[in-house]
Amino acid sequence: MGFNNSDRQLPSQPSAKNLKFEREDWTHFRTVEGLQQKAGVAASKLRRLVLKELADNALDTGAEVDIGQLSSGGYFVEDDGPGIDGSPEEIARLFSINRPMISTKLLRLPKRGALGNGLRVVAGAVLAPEGRLVVITRNRRIELRPEREGATTVVSVEPIDFPVGTRGPTTRTSTARLP
Ligand SMILES: Nc1ncnc2c1ncn2[C@@H]1O[C@H](COP(=O)(O)OP(=O)(O)OP(=O)(O)O)[C@@H](O)[C@H]1O
Ligand SMILES: [Mg+2]
Repeated sequence: MGFNNSDRQLPSQPSAKNLKFEREDWTHFRTVEGLQQKAGVAASKLRRLVLKELADNALDTGAEVDIGQLSSGGYFVEDDGPGIDGSPEEIARLFSINRPMISTKLLRLPKRGALGNGLRVVAGAVLAPEGRLVVITRNRRIELRPEREGATTVVSVEPIDFPVGTRGPTTRTSTARLP
């Protein structure tokens, strides 16, 4: 069969309409295989990628970043930037795999390339091994659970104190049990 005739069907082929698959793009964020595709890194590097995405976000605010390991086995990425805007539900949406691209950086950093996906990758990497995320920002400790259905759930919100004058409202994100 010539290239020009490539749309011709062999008698044994099913009709073209039966070959049309449709799947929401965000479903790729649910599995390690899909995440590898979306993020462009091998499974063994996903943990590093998550920490990089969180550190990128921290550095984008112009803040200083501190990264470390928790005694629970997870990691934290902490910055002394402005904190994350919004209610716990809005923050959960930022960490949801099924959200559209959301970014505050389009105007400020027009040459950055792909935008608004970092936290979806983070949520997916926590979801795949059924981990949880804790975001501490603006005097709240928000525990989040990414869900297979797409929208991340707010598990709990607790007030938390930062010593006045030592450090401003801080974003602290810890990820446990990454692949
Ligand atoms: N540490 C943080 N401090 C303040 N705002 C944050 C922080 N982390 C995330 N955000 C907010 O959440 C938005 C979404 O973050 P996300 O990492 O998903 O996308 P992005 O950083 O805009 O683009 P990309 O990560 O794809 O380069 C950011 O644009 C920013 O407004
Ligand atoms: Mg980012």
